[in-house]
Amino acid sequence: VQKIAYRANILFFNEDPYFKETQEDALTFYKDGLLVLDLEKGTVIEAGSHEEMRIKHASVQISQEYKDKLIMPGFIDCHTHYPQTEMICSFASSLVNWLNTYTFPTEEQFKDINYAKKISQFYLNELLKNGTTTALVFATIHPESVAALFDEAIRLNMRIVTGKTMMNRNVPEFLQDTVEGSYRDSLNLIQSYHNVGRCLYSITPRFAPTSTQDQLNIAGQLKHNFPDTYIHTHLNENLQEVDQVKFLFPESENYLDVYDKSNLVHKQSVFAHCIHCTQPELDKLKQIQCGVAYCPTSNGFLGAGIFPYHQAVQNGINFGMGTDVGGGTDFGILRTLQDAYKFIMVNQQHVENRRPMTSFEGFYRATLGGCKALSLEHKIGKFLPGYEADFVVLDWCVNDIQRLRFENIEKRASSTQQSTVTFESLKLSTIKPGDDKYLLQDKLF
Ligand code: GUN
Ligand code: FE
Repeated sequence: VQKIAYRANILFFNEDPYFKETQEDALTFYKDGLLVLDLEKGTVIEAGSHEEMRIKHASVQISQEYKDKLIMPGFIDCHTHYPQTEMICSFASSLVNWLNTYTFPTEEQFKDINYAKKISQFYLNELLKNGTTTALVFATIHPESVAALFDEAIRLNMRIVTGKTMMNRNVPEFLQDTVEGSYRDSLNLIQSYHNVGRCLYSITPRFAPTSTQDQLNIAGQLKHNFPDTYIHTHLNENLQEVDQVKFLFPESENYLDVYDKSNLVHKQSVFAHCIHCTQPELDKLKQIQCGVAYCPTSNGFLGAGIFPYHQAVQNGINFGMGTDVGGGTDFGILRTLQDAYKFIMVNQQHVENRRPMTSFEGFYRATLGGCKALSLEHKIGKFLPGYEADFVVLDWCVNDIQRLRFENIEKRASSTQQSTVTFESLKLSTIKPGDDKYLLQDKLF
């Protein structure tokens, strides 16, 4: 076996630190660790302390030393729209105005495969720069938009879950498909890309208001025919949308029930936002262990509301972080965590003893939490034998303030006080999965 190794401080989570009295019990940390990889398979052989690993793997060649840096599993973006790259942060007074003014005209451009290729390259490069190696991504109704993104993901060895957007009403005609057409296009893409390399297919009705019952049913039929594909859509993002769904689907008990009646609620279903869920909906999400994407930058930018973080964790909701670009305002998960932190605090304005989201909880959501939301926890998210060599390198001493804060790394990793760890000011260097080369980025966070 041809081995390769990276020397750095190493951190990954084994479980959610939220309920642990000592949060460090939820993670594995090696100060001056060594990550030993199988170069051919691109998998982890073992992670441990440098001292121990050098004895066990005497012949191993160390390809990179990152003395002051931290290796973590690659970040996971559980909900994002790559076609909205160019229109990120366009102002609008409501979700509907935003969709009509910016989103739909931008998405129309993806009928041109060359444009789709250009944005795919730009977008995936942006994810890697931000330390994201896995993402669940919206494309457009055009099959070309999906093919372009998958092709680029294969080239970069990234794990991308995407699929053709299905929508046949309540959007401009130039962005409507049909029930039969959406089935056929989705089927072709599943056969061409699902499980090819790290590509995975998600059946993607945009959200309930933009599909007829017939189209939702055909999406459910696809899921029945290809049970290991994903379902990806929006749920309970904003109050007007919730009202609209009540009006359009009067027979359904609630919003989630619309999807459930169409055979779209499964463990491998991922629902973006889930801000305004009723208790029966939360119960259902928990029961099925559906994935949920928490998208704080978008929820703030579009004024959708505040995701009930503590309620979600305490209700056993299976959620990870999503950027929701271009409703979201940043491509990076670290920035997204900063906003999450603030919203979680603001949401407790009437609580005397506010409970912040700790850094460990945040990094958990960015990695293993996201893996679980995307049902990938047996492939990535930990550095255990056989897991994929999917990791990023964080520079926690990117500037003088950070250096000051992180001077005593042991204190950071072994104390119950985590106040010294922030999501800010981390510089990333990203290693493409299974790839020896690395990009060192200068972008400050
Ligand atoms: N709901 C339906 N489509 C969209 C979208 O593109 N962005 C957001 N944030 N919400 C949506
Ligand atoms: Fe979205």
